Amino acid sequence: MSEKKHKGLLITLEGGEGGGKTTQIVRLRDRLSKAGKDVVVLREPGGTVISEQIRDVVLSAKNIGIAFTAEVLLFQAARAQIYREIVLPSLEAGKIVILDRSRDSSVVYQGMVRGFGKDMVEKLNDLSTKETYPDATFLLDLPVELGLQRRVESGKMDRLDMEGMDFHVKVRDAYLELAKADTHDRWHIIDASQSLEEVQEELWTKVKTVLGI
Ligand code: TYD
Repeated sequence: MSEKKHKGLLITLEGGEGGGKTTQIVRLRDRLSKAGKDVVVLREPGGTVISEQIRDVVLSAKNIGIAFTAEVLLFQAARAQIYREIVLPSLEAGKIVILDRSRDSSVVYQGMVRGFGKDMVEKLNDLSTKETYPDATFLLDLPVELGLQRRVESGKMDRLDMEGMDFHVKVRDAYLELAKADTHDRWHIIDASQSLEEVQEELWTKVKTVLGI
């Protein structure tokens, strides 16, 4: 892995559907702000005007005919824009950047599940992020049935949520494989079938360790 050092801290949350990443990030941001930290929270795909437009194209339930190669490149296009506009300048300014998904989503969904391969996707990731890796990545892991049930109950289903069970099982397995193969202590697996409060406490404890606070 090629790593570039930055002044700030990049934290990513990853995982399949219904793991509660977004809710956890809001709570984490509040706690970090209370602790006096300068925090920027963003989601991928999205986070800038241009990236949100790309998000609409790539996730719209109307676009079921999208070519998988177009999907790979659209996620990268959205990433290149958010890194140049916000992530890299914020890290340079010493801020904590929390991303709801980033490069590992592409490795898992497009590289390992769609089959484009990890190496190819990592090359594209390096181009989009200027070879930036997260300092810490939290995998919110839970059984696929539970994740999909939570997603259906929330009423927010996008094009990828509507993929079959088999797809989501492959996503979960791919994330676990990636996290377990980590040799840099970057990945932290959290059992997201616990209550929101329990997940938050585990996340907060781990983030404090990463930050040394
Ligand atoms: P979103 O509603 O933001 O995510 P979540 O499921 O985390 O609530 O949807 C993002 C979807 O896009 C999700 O199904 C994962 C997928 N995705 C990729 O396939 N590749 C990527 O590089 C990214 C960032 C997301």
